Amino acid sequence: DWTPEHFIQSTVERVRAQVGTGHAICGLSGGVDSSVAAVLVARAIGDRLTCIFVNNGVLRKDEFLKVQTTMREQLGLKVVAVDSSQRFLEKLAGVTDPERKRKVIGNEFIAVFDDEAKKIWESSAAGAEEVAWLVQGTLYPDVIESSSVHGPSHTIKSHHNVGGLPADMKLKLIEPLRDLFKDEVRRIGRDLGMPEEIIERQPFPGPGLAVRILGEVTAERVAMLQEADQIVVDEIKKAGLYRKVWQSFAVLLPVKSVGVMGDQRTYANTCAVRAVESEDGMTADWAPLPYEVLRTISSRIVSEVRGINRVVYDITSKPPGTIEWE
Ligand code: XMP
Repeated sequence: DWTPEHFIQSTVERVRAQVGTGHAICGLSGGVDSSVAAVLVARAIGDRLTCIFVNNGVLRKDEFLKVQTTMREQLGLKVVAVDSSQRFLEKLAGVTDPERKRKVIGNEFIAVFDDEAKKIWESSAAGAEEVAWLVQGTLYPDVIESSSVHGPSHTIKSHHNVGGLPADMKLKLIEPLRDLFKDEVRRIGRDLGMPEEIIERQPFPGPGLAVRILGEVTAERVAMLQEADQIVVDEIKKAGLYRKVWQSFAVLLPVKSVGVMGDQRTYANTCAVRAVESEDGMTADWAPLPYEVLRTISSRIVSEVRGINRVVYDITSKPPGTIEWE
């Protein structure tokens, strides 16, 4: 019978045996999946695991710093943090097609990750004969879904990772969570003593805010969405709904409309608020948020976020909609 303790014990033993005296690297996203995977592997091989956390320019507000602090100080992980936001935003300039955005971000991520992995490899004591391991927090629904709607870009596939790496650095994949659903991963994280802040974190897509900015992604639009997103999450938390909904976020639309502010006419951007309830992300219902919560979110966004003058609520379930807008 399946229990978190059994799972942890057998996984740690298996990983320890697999990796032997080798080294592993793990891409962190700040989310629950990659963190649980990293903590499990760190239990098995200690500081022979190095985590890489990349700022792709489309993270949430303050996330690059917050995640580093949590991962190092609370989880004790060895983290290399790389701020590549400039490089990503340059590559995203002019790109409006959703799948192109995913490809650009996926490819850029792999390039940055490769560079960092190479540096870690060269500075480690690992011998040329040794196998290097790549840890990924792939879940069971990812295994199913990545073959259909989103293509392979939301996880780093192993074959992508051998590109620029030294020929003697053979990367092998460790995916300790690939038979699990999200709720099981959360139980394991809790059992590992990880902070609730990480365990309860709502899922966030790999391509980040880029797939929540319809049309072109620019630094200015990222900043605008970061502010709106923070207000949505704040208010959902204040209302005690953060755990009840699967995801809650803002989407910046390429639509401007007319409004009034004081005695001024405004002509500014529209923001959609999305909140859904779901078990596993494969299907979802739009969440019937209390009107009071919607009212506060809307008035705060319009008064606090420069450039947004209209807020709408998305009442589409999945199917036929998807959770994200792109
Ligand atoms: P959709 O929008 O297809 O999303 O209903 C289902 C779940 O997957 C997340 N999602 C992604 N995650 N890379 C990711 O890592 C992606 O490209 C991606 N697209 C969607 C989404 O946030 C939801 O939890």
